[in-house]
Amino acid sequence: MKAGKRITDMAAYTPIEPVNILATRLGIPANQITKLDANENPYGPSPLVRQALAELDSINIYPDPESRVLRSRLSEVYDVPFENILTGSGADELIDLLVRVVVEPGDRVINCVPTFGMYDFDTALNFGVCLNIPRRSNFSLDMKAIEKAVKKEQPGIIFACSPNNPDGRRLTGEETDFLLSLPALIVLDEAYIEFTQQNGDLGVNNSLIRQVTVRDNLIVLRTFSKWAGLAGLRIGFGVFPTWLMDSLWKAKQPYNVNVAASAAACASLQDRDYLADNVSKIQAERSRLYQKLLAIPGITPFPSQSNFILCKVDGKSARDVKTELAAKGVFIRHYENALLRDYIRISVGRPGDTDILIRQLEELL
Ligand SMILES: Cc1ncc(COP(=O)(O)O)c(C=O)c1O
Repeated sequence: MKAGKRITDMAAYTPIEPVNILATRLGIPANQITKLDANENPYGPSPLVRQALAELDSINIYPDPESRVLRSRLSEVYDVPFENILTGSGADELIDLLVRVVVEPGDRVINCVPTFGMYDFDTALNFGVCLNIPRRSNFSLDMKAIEKAVKKEQPGIIFACSPNNPDGRRLTGEETDFLLSLPALIVLDEAYIEFTQQNGDLGVNNSLIRQVTVRDNLIVLRTFSKWAGLAGLRIGFGVFPTWLMDSLWKAKQPYNVNVAASAAACASLQDRDYLADNVSKIQAERSRLYQKLLAIPGITPFPSQSNFILCKVDGKSARDVKTELAAKGVFIRHYENALLRDYIRISVGRPGDTDILIRQLEELL
């Protein structure tokens, strides 16, 4: 007996390990780990989340399969119709669900690489074919190449991430207009939109979320993992065009969003000012980290509108930088792929995390 060839032939996704596992591996206490590898929120959730979790009842009862309470709060806060919102166990679940629902075996999907690995992974898992179109050297989209590929391959989906993971660049108006003019479903992943420039507004003015219902070919994905510090609870949502909703409801797992995640998301929506303060702290630390990285020889940081900074490494292998930092308890991200071989991605932590990272980098380089 054996698993299907599609799975055995597929490259595995490399997930990030939790702090206690990293600490055990290194033989040091967990509180001595500086974890800057997964774009997590160093300030954690709102205190209202802890209270809501402590007061949870009905844990013995299955959650609402339609997440009605959370969806109605989301509808109020983001000013989008309740009927067009679907919640998921993280944005990750929604990416998989969407590909499963839209892509038939052999269908093409366009991916603007380098970018978040799950678009490629879920396309392969669901029998699609990912066409990887490289971005330009400043990580802008290669619009000509995308246009050509759309004409030739007629993709069902184009994934676009804004700000993009791993470089933190936000799509320009010209790029989004171009994408939306194409005859394909545009999946705009706004996982990090709350960290974009305008301080204090949680990305409201930069998001395209309200455009979904006036267009037929736009989906916007959001998550509570980053700005709201709920990565461990797995909760995200998407706003989808009306024509897709019935199929998504049909295909989704019935109880995909658990009661704790739902309650935590509702509590976060009630405490947006508190969470926006944490986002502002992260934005301020992003600027400080960027300046400090600029001063390190061999490191070239890219300007970021997100909660991480991508850096080109010269004069030393980027993989070695990651490995040597890890040996000292500082975890950052390096990717084993050709486009990013010479890069590292550093999540923005607290000021103390920046100080430890910079001290270790200065010793290494
Ligand atoms: C661009 C992007 N989209 C989606 C996700 C996943 O979000 P979630 O934690 O809600 O599954 C991530 C996580 O790192 C991400 O970087």
